Amino acid sequence: MKFNYSKRILALTQWIEADSFVIDVGTDHAHLPLALVELGITRKILAIDNNLKPLATAEKNIIHAGFNDIIQLRLNDGLRNINLNGNETIVISGLGGMLISSILAEAKQGIKINQKFILQPNWTWFELRKWLAGNGFKIVKEQIVAEQNKLYSQLLVHYTGEEYHISDTDAFCGINIQHNHNSASEMEIYKSYLSRLKRLATLKARSVDSYSDIVKRINHKLENLRQIYY
Ligand SMILES: C[S@@+](CC[C@H](N)C(=O)[O-])C[C@H]1O[C@@H](n2cnc3c(N)ncnc32)[C@H](O)[C@@H]1O
Repeated sequence: MKFNYSKRILALTQWIEADSFVIDVGTDHAHLPLALVELGITRKILAIDNNLKPLATAEKNIIHAGFNDIIQLRLNDGLRNINLNGNETIVISGLGGMLISSILAEAKQGIKINQKFILQPNWTWFELRKWLAGNGFKIVKEQIVAEQNKLYSQLLVHYTGEEYHISDTDAFCGINIQHNHNSASEMEIYKSYLSRLKRLATLKARSVDSYSDIVKRINHKLENLRQIYY
């Protein structure tokens, strides 16, 4: 491969269906589009960024890889003025959850039922999951991506238009997290993920009462894990 793609970028590619149309919002170095072409997953890609500097880097990388006739690059704010026909997969990764939700909120009128999204928020994941639930975006599944001592949540989301309730604990920890129960390394990652969330929730509980309940529920999840696996 021409570039050394991170585990995080490769995890995104694994959820993209062959030959689908992908819109990468906040493409930065264009690593995801480059990986999709190099791995032979799809050649139908629109890469968007709202800043000139990352866009110039993306262009340089795309030309270097010889993919300039394949990957479309556009200076654009989120999905503003992008006409969606419903069968695109929209990827937004490496941005804060609140920024991701504001990009989705602005585009909501043009989003079609069953439109597919892959989201990988860097932070404010609680606010993102609450927003998704309150705005008819169903979280179909999640996975945890481990890279260099960091853990990321990756969400597969479908727009259904049907709002639903999500508990504070689920908004904080995630729902329908996929992991192979027979894989010691995947279960170890899940345990580290819960332990990290427990530390964060414990800090938050000092100033926000509702987090005490989240801490209790995370403890319960960790205890269940211990009984099964350790
Ligand atoms: C930290 S990088 C993430 C790059 C890549 N998606 C990844 O996962 O590694 C965030 C990029 O999003 C771009 N960005 C931030 N807000 C945006 C918006 N509203 N519309 C388009 N791009 C945006 C920034 O310019 C930056 O290049």
